[in-house]
Amino acid sequence: MAIDVVTVDGPAGAGKSVCTRALARRLGLEYLNTGAMYRAIALKALRDGVDLHNDDALAALATAVRLESVDGRTYMDGEDVTDAVRASEVSLNVRYPANAPAVREIMVQQQRRIGASKPIVTEGRDQGTVVFPDARCKIYLTASAEERARRRLGELEARGESADYDEILRQIVDRDRSDSQRAVGPLREPADAVRVVSDGMTIDEVVDAMERIVRQRLTIFNA
Ligand code: DC
Repeated sequence: MAIDVVTVDGPAGAGKSVCTRALARRLGLEYLNTGAMYRAIALKALRDGVDLHNDDALAALATAVRLESVDGRTYMDGEDVTDAVRASEVSLNVRYPANAPAVREIMVQQQRRIGASKPIVTEGRDQGTVVFPDARCKIYLTASAEERARRRLGELEARGESADYDEILRQIVDRDRSDSQRAVGPLREPADAVRVVSDGMTIDEVVDAMERIVRQRLTIFNA
């Protein structure tokens, strides 16, 4: 058996993107960043002046755009938006498309279409639970809220920005709550996932652990 889909879910700030991208490279599979897809919808809405509180308008926009993942980069209607979707204005507004059930339905279809076209390692909040429930290899990558706050503080300080640890921790706890309590596609640990808690681990150690999990799963299914 070859690998078809590896899912990586987990909360914000657990190191999902950097580790999943590295894992995909090691395995020679396409990397799909589904958070970037929700971000692309927010970007398009901001650019086109679409009301972010209007779920129908967001769904129409999500139906009209074509999202692709090529060499780990996100394309919207052929435009490479990988960097543009990281803008802080997009981060502030991505919860609107991410919380709109009709948008999620369309994103789920697009993610399955991409997964059917090539073997992928896909990261998000609902990949192992909703989008690819039959995936044979699921990872749940997490870290304590305190560890994620310490990492975020370090990143901000490295950029010369001042930040307050307690405020960052509060934002992380808030975001976890909103991600987990969403009615459609909430963040939930898949029952059949292998959990990796990245507290105190380097990026390389996390990727090593993830690679071991994938190879073990393959051994089990090939036995
Ligand atoms: O992982 P990220 O920060 O780029 O995700 C951006 C937003 O999209 C975040 O609010 C969580 C949401 N998201 C989601 O609801 N479902 C996914 N599969 C991926 C991300």
